[in-house]
Amino acid sequence: MKDLEQDYPDYTEAMGYEHGDEPQCNNSDNRNFYDVMEARVARRGFLMGGLATVATGLIGGTLTGKAALAQSTSSLIGFTAVPVSFEDTVVVPEGYSFQILGALGEPISGDMPAYRPGANTGAEREHQIGQCHDGIHYFPIEGSSEDGLLVLNHEYIEPRFLHAEKEGYKGVAHDKRSVVYDADGMRDDDEVRMEIASHGISVYRTAKQSDGQWAIVADPHNRRITANTPMEIGGPVRGSSLVRTKYSPDGTATRGTVNNCAHGVTPWNTYLAAEENWAGYFSNTTELDQKPDLPREHARYGVSTNPNGGRYGWHKAKSGADEYVRWDATTRGASAAEDYRNEPNTYGWMVEIDPFDPESTPVKRTHLGRFAHEGVVFAPVVEGAPVVCYSGDDARFEYIYKFVSDDVFVPGDTDGSILDSGTLYVAKFNDDGTGEWLALAPGRNGLTPANGFADLADILVNTRLAGDHVGATKMDRPEWGTVDPNTGTLFFALTNNSRRTQAQTDAVNPRAENNFGQIVRWNYENNDHTKASFEWDLFVLAGNARNSALATGGALNDDSIFACPDGLWCDGDSRLWIQTDMGDLGPDYEGPLKDFGMNGMLAANPATGEIKRFLTGPWGQETTGVVATPDGKTMFINFQHPGAHASAEQFAAGDFGSGFPDYDGTVPRCATVVITKDDGGFIGT
Ligand code: FEO
Ligand code: CA
Ligand code: CA
Ligand code: CA
Repeated sequence: MKDLEQDYPDYTEAMGYEHGDEPQCNNSDNRNFYDVMEARVARRGFLMGGLATVATGLIGGTLTGKAALAQSTSSLIGFTAVPVSFEDTVVVPEGYSFQILGALGEPISGDMPAYRPGANTGAEREHQIGQCHDGIHYFPIEGSSEDGLLVLNHEYIEPRFLHAEKEGYKGVAHDKRSVVYDADGMRDDDEVRMEIASHGISVYRTAKQSDGQWAIVADPHNRRITANTPMEIGGPVRGSSLVRTKYSPDGTATRGTVNNCAHGVTPWNTYLAAEENWAGYFSNTTELDQKPDLPREHARYGVSTNPNGGRYGWHKAKSGADEYVRWDATTRGASAAEDYRNEPNTYGWMVEIDPFDPESTPVKRTHLGRFAHEGVVFAPVVEGAPVVCYSGDDARFEYIYKFVSDDVFVPGDTDGSILDSGTLYVAKFNDDGTGEWLALAPGRNGLTPANGFADLADILVNTRLAGDHVGATKMDRPEWGTVDPNTGTLFFALTNNSRRTQAQTDAVNPRAENNFGQIVRWNYENNDHTKASFEWDLFVLAGNARNSALATGGALNDDSIFACPDGLWCDGDSRLWIQTDMGDLGPDYEGPLKDFGMNGMLAANPATGEIKRFLTGPWGQETTGVVATPDGKTMFINFQHPGAHASAEQFAAGDFGSGFPDYDGTVPRCATVVITKDDGGFIGT
């Protein structure tokens, strides 16, 4: 058995390994939560006073958003809440329906190879939807709410479900991480090719059919981007000595993207895929005096020193082909141009993809920083003003960042190159409800050569170290952010942090042994997102009725208890959708998250603080990725890793944990779920 803490140093919780082992949150601390919220509520009086004015203006019709103005705050979340679920099913509120769309393995391109459960080849998967669906966006075609491009991330893989019918897997005990090595310690090339192709991004056209069901449509836009797709390195790190490799001796290109968690959509209508827990895909066994000798740009990110890497050992593919060997970041050649010591430095970025140009080369936008990007969220764009976006680093005690462009937004003219020059900032949350953005730029806040930061490229490759240096606030695992398009309020999910001690608590991360998480929000004077200071409060401390708290007062109840907020999306009506990732909980789970049942999604009214559970999902999954069509009448969400809770022994016995979505005895599949309201109304009402 592997030592998970050692082998998966940065993402044990991100993959849900830890929850079941955690001690019960100490309920004797309850009073503290309320004390904290009382202090915050006092502050909020000032903050929300400004927001209330905005909201009044909204209802008065001063904004021209679509359905936004049709909803009063009382009917914003008008559906009847669904109960906590312990079943292997999808549950939506009364009056709503769902269908499955775009599950793992469905063909989208090439000669449309058919899905064969646990038996497809790597070459086939390069034309099929990948695994572990995560961030998702619907790009309308000609403004249509019934015909568009769905773009979605595939965060990671569950190898045993990809290979379930293959030799070495079928009938053999495999946990959710394990892969097969041969007697020489090498891996089968096609299995590796399959795993690489099950990562990345899927782009496919989907349209509502005459029977009301949505279907995948064969289309020239349909495309798979995988962990092997050629990519450009853009921004200040382009050409840096830190990204020169055998593949790209001038440091301008790399291959692939992995662990694409959440996403972002730019004001110029392109898609950004985040590279979150990428470090474990690499192995660096370089030693000095028989001890690991990793450069700081590997060590601070948790690049594995295990000869097989922290994950799937792709560099052990038997053929030794260059596309596989590159996952070995050990210093082997005479210079960086002769090996892949710098390959991990070409990961940890936000990747821009133009879904409307299937021939386009994805670009890694390095000025947004290098870390475990959960996703990215753009502030409402203002013509003639800089572009502003935010991104969280999802690991325990990591930071939240903001980028402000140098150039200003010009509709029809601005493209992704605007992200290549500007200033990256990191957040400091003061206990008094104010906050400030600290610039991570040469010569600012002590980021000088004398302090170890040679230039901008060096700062960006070592973003976490720069954040350490300037004294950023260590957060409880920042996950998705979202912006209320009507008020400009930013929300960020802080999912949990079981390692925070009482001595490490602060006002924004107020709980020790934080199993349940919280959602923070902030605003700026005059709604100006370029400003260096802001006002924040906690929208909700998640948990059960005994230990949750709302900014508006009171606690969560049977209709609203939740834990571990992860996905967030504020729709055009200012409805805040909250998705949970408590790890891979199954029906037999026992532990601090037992009260909450299976992962699902809730909706909140930010103006009133009301929260209701909207949906629950099958066994083992987390609910992640949410977007609606522009008319607000069709929603797309993803279920990731159904069946992940199944033990190795269960797998060997042919019990795959969950039947979702086929329920026919084959392996469970990650899938997109389409949700509609039976009366054709807005989702959430
Ligand atoms: Fe991939 Fe932070 O969830
Ligand atoms: Ca998560
Ligand atoms: Ca997860
Ligand atoms: Ca996530």
